[in-house]
Amino acid sequence: MVRLKIPATSANIGPGFDSIGLAVNLYNTVTMEEWDSCVIESLDGVAVPCDENNLIYSTARQLYQLCGVPFRGLKIGQVNHIPFARGLGSSSACVIGGLKGANTLMGKPVSDNELINLAASVEGHPDNSTPALLGGLVTAVLDQNKVYYVKQEIKNDLHFVAIIPDFELKTSQARAVLPDSVPRQVGVFNLSRAALMSVSLYSGNYQNLRIAADDQLHQPYRLKLIPNGQWVMENCYNLGAYAAFISGAGSTLMAIVDAKRIDFGDCILRRLHEQGLNGWQVRTLSIDNTGTQIEEEQA
Ligand code: HSE
Repeated sequence: MVRLKIPATSANIGPGFDSIGLAVNLYNTVTMEEWDSCVIESLDGVAVPCDENNLIYSTARQLYQLCGVPFRGLKIGQVNHIPFARGLGSSSACVIGGLKGANTLMGKPVSDNELINLAASVEGHPDNSTPALLGGLVTAVLDQNKVYYVKQEIKNDLHFVAIIPDFELKTSQARAVLPDSVPRQVGVFNLSRAALMSVSLYSGNYQNLRIAADDQLHQPYRLKLIPNGQWVMENCYNLGAYAAFISGAGSTLMAIVDAKRIDFGDCILRRLHEQGLNGWQVRTLSIDNTGTQIEEEQA
C-alpha cells in the first residue's frame, strides 16, 4: 500500500500561459494498493467517480500497461482538499497521484522525469502537473511529448491568497474562448512579462510582480467568464497585493502578498461579503517546495 500527498498548483501566474506554475500547501491525499477489482473510496465524502473512469485509477492503469506489468485492479482512497474545476490543479493532482502511486507499487521502474513527460501528455500542459510532482516554481516547455523545465525553490516570505468563487469553470470552456492567433505586440507583451515573473519570484524582486503579472493572452477573455473577477483583482491591488491573476484557467483569483500581511485574507473576505459574494472562500497559502510526498509505503 502506498500513501501520497499531492499539492495544489497555480498555473500561468499571469503571463506564463501553459508554461509557468507553482505548488502551494493545499493537498489531496491518495492511498493505493493492488486489488482484484476497481474499488474507489472517497474518504472525505467528496463526490468522485467510483468506477474505472476515475482519473487516478485510469492514469495508474495506463502506467501499468505502459510498463507491461499485469494489471488486476486497484483499491484507491481519496481525500480531496483541492476544489474541483477552480484553477488549483485538481486534475493534475489526480494524474500525478495515479502515476506516482502506480510507479511506487510497481517498484519504481519509471524515473520522475519520465513521469513528468507522461503527466504532461495526459494533462496537455505541463504548468500544473510538473510543480504538482516537484513542488516549487516551475518554468516548463512541452515539446514533442517531452517537458524541458527548471524547478526553483522560492523563499517562504510570500503568501498566495486563493480567492475561490462558488462556481466551477472547466478548463475546456476557459480555453475555448481564447483567440487562435494574436498580434506580435501581444506576444512581446506576454513573453517579456513571463520572463520577468519567473526571475522576479525566484530572486525576490517582488516590486516587479505587479507589472510582471499582467497578461493579454488569456485573462482578458477568461475574466468575462468569472463574474466579479476583475473587481476582486482590483481590490487585491487596493489592499496592497504584489500581484493578482487568474489561477490556472480559473475560476480562482490568486493574490501574491507579503507574508507579513497576515490580515490580507480577512480583509479581502470582508470585501467579498460586503459585495454579497458570501459563497466565496479565501485560503491563505504558502509555497510548497517539496512536491508530491510518499507518506507511507508498504510491501
Ligand atoms: N495553462 C492552463 C490553462 C492551465 O491556462 O489553460 C490549466 O490546466
